[in-house]
Formats: sequence, C-alpha cells, structure tokens
Amino acid sequence: MGTGRVLVVGGDGMVGGHLVRRLAARSVPQLSSTRRAGAGPGRPLIDLGAGEWPPLRTLDVTAIVICAAVARLADCAHDPAGSARVNVEGPARLAAEAAGLGIPTLYLSTDKVFDGTVPHRAATDARCPQSAYGTQKAAAEAAILALPHTAVLRLSKVVRPDEPLLAGWAASLRRGDPVTPFTDLHLAPVPVDLVCAAIEGIVERGGTGIWQISGPRDITYADAALHLARRMGADEGLVRPVGGQAAAAIGGGPPSPHTTLDSTRVAAELGITVPGPFQVLDEMIRQGGHAVLDRGLGG
Ligand SMILES: NC(=O)c1ccc[n+]([C@@H]2O[C@H](COP(=O)([O-])OP(=O)(O)OC[C@H]3O[C@@H](n4cnc5c(N)ncnc54)[C@H](OP(=O)(O)O)[C@@H]3O)[C@@H](O)[C@H]2O)c1
Repeated sequence: MGTGRVLVVGGDGMVGGHLVRRLAARSVPQLSSTRRAGAGPGRPLIDLGAGEWPPLRTLDVTAIVICAAVARLADCAHDPAGSARVNVEGPARLAAEAAGLGIPTLYLSTDKVFDGTVPHRAATDARCPQSAYGTQKAAAEAAILALPHTAVLRLSKVVRPDEPLLAGWAASLRRGDPVTPFTDLHLAPVPVDLVCAAIEGIVERGGTGIWQISGPRDITYADAALHLARRMGADEGLVRPVGGQAAAAIGGGPPSPHTTLDSTRVAAELGITVPGPFQVLDEMIRQGGHAVLDRGLGG
C-alpha cells in the first residue's frame, strides 16, 4: 500500500481488526488505535468520544482509516449525545487535523444514511437518514467530505466467517431449539474481506469522494435463517419467522426494505464485486467452519 504507514482508528473492532490482520499479512506498515491502555507498541490510544489522541504529526502516518464508531442503532438511539461525540465530532476533528497535515482520511459509513425505500442507492442521492445512527453518519460524512484528501466508504451489513448471527442460529438449530428471525429486517451482506479489499484499494490509490459497497440484493433475516437450516439439514420447522418486531429490536427507525447501494464504482475502479446473498452466506459458513459443516454443505 504505497510506501507509507496507515493508521487504523478502531483496531479492536470487527472491520478494523480484520483490516489490521490483512495489512499485517501483506507487511504494510501500520498503527492501529485502541482504547485499552498498555495494549502495546503500535497501538496508540485514541478515544474519539473524549476527543483524545496523540498529535497526528507525532505518529508518522500517511493515511488514516476511521473504523471506530458506536455502530449499533440502539446504542445511538439510547445515547444520542454520547454516540454523536464518537461518530461525528471526534472523526470530524481528527480528519480536520489530518487534512491540515495533508494526510488523507477514509471514513467508514453506512447504507443507513438513506431511508431504505429505494434499492441500489446512488452515491449522489441526497442523504435521508431515519435513525440517530444514520443521522450521525450522514453528518460526519458531510463534515469530512468538506475537507481535502477525504473519502467515505458506505457499507451494507458486513458479515464475517465467524458471523455471530449464523453461529447463534446454527447452535440453536443443532440443539433442536427454534429460531425467530425477522421478516421485516433486510440485509444485502458483504463479506468483511471484500470491505477491507475496498478500503485498501481506496487508500492505495488516494481515492476521494463517496464510495459504496453492498451485496447486489436484499434478503430478509428469515430468508437467511431458512437458508442456513437447509444447508445444515436441520428441521426447517424450527425456523419461525416473526414480523413487525424488528424496529423495536434494533432500536432505531423503521426497518429498511432496501439496504443495497450502487457499488459500480468499486467494481469499475477496484475490480471488486460482491456475490449474491446466499453465496455470501455459504462462503461465511464454509470459511467459519461452523459445526454446520459437520453435516456437509448440501447443494
Ligand atoms: N458491521 C457492519 O455491518 C457495518 C455496516 C455498515 C457500516 N458499518 C460501519 O463500519 C465501521 C466499523 O464497524 P464495525 O462493525 O467494525 O464496528 P465494531 O465492531 O462495533 O467496532 C467499533 C470499534 O470502535 C471502537 N470505539 C467505540 N467507541 C470509541 C471511542 N469513543 N473512541 C475510539 N474508538 C471507539 C470500539 O472500541 P472498543 O473495541 O474499545 O469497544 C471498536 O473497536 C463503523 O463505522 C460502522 O458504522 C458497519
């Protein structure tokens, strides 16, 4: 990734941690921030909520990727002021300091800057968030993109090989316990590895402006659970979809029927394309080595 050193803000998180491992595997020089004192060398303490970090000029970095966030809708809804300090004020200040030093910043954002009424949202569509989380991410995007050398990467639901959602369902189904996935909550899953490949590509080429990556289409969480049950050879009757409860469960705004984003820029410029949702789930199950594999991945 060029000749510089990358600062990953939020190196203990899901995306940040995966990015750090990928960069390390490629011997890319990096620092990854933490909130845990004494985490060791190469782990600067950065607390976006408290507005505390070492002066960037002392860190000798050539690019910054802000992965840290209060990323749960419910947490933002419950503490809008505290979460705004982490999601908006901290990142905007950090990016401004970086811009003053000529250091490019990439900020991770979300499909939740939109209202979920339209599929394949264009990067240029006006932001129309419906939740505290989406409102904060939209505000941070606007503040950061107003600075030079900045980029935003919007993501739909990111899934990983040890995806807790799948692991939890699989464990229940194996025990013969029912699972109750939502019919009114949608996802267009994107594997964390492809998200990190896109981050690397954007940083490497000094990309600016808005980038987006999502799966090509939405399915419901109920579709996902049923697919998993079929792959496991489990009793499909144990999957008992529920409707009308997603909003209360996720704690933020009405559920979004559409979470897809127009991802043609990452396809055209970075050569990254996200497979369909069931292919992504199968790949996560395969890579994760969930016990579902004990029974084989059927057709
Ligand atoms: N995961 C998804 O499906 C998804 C979808 C769309 C967009 N995104 C966006 O992608 C980014 C990464 O998400 P993620 O799933 O990797 O999130 P995550 O696993 O929840 O990780 C968030 C990280 O932020 C750190 N953090 C929280 N408060 C902080 C603070 N005050 N100062 C510094 N760091 C703080 C956490 O630190 P600790 O480890 O110390 O708690 C954690 O390492 C976020 O911007 C999120 O909004 C994620």
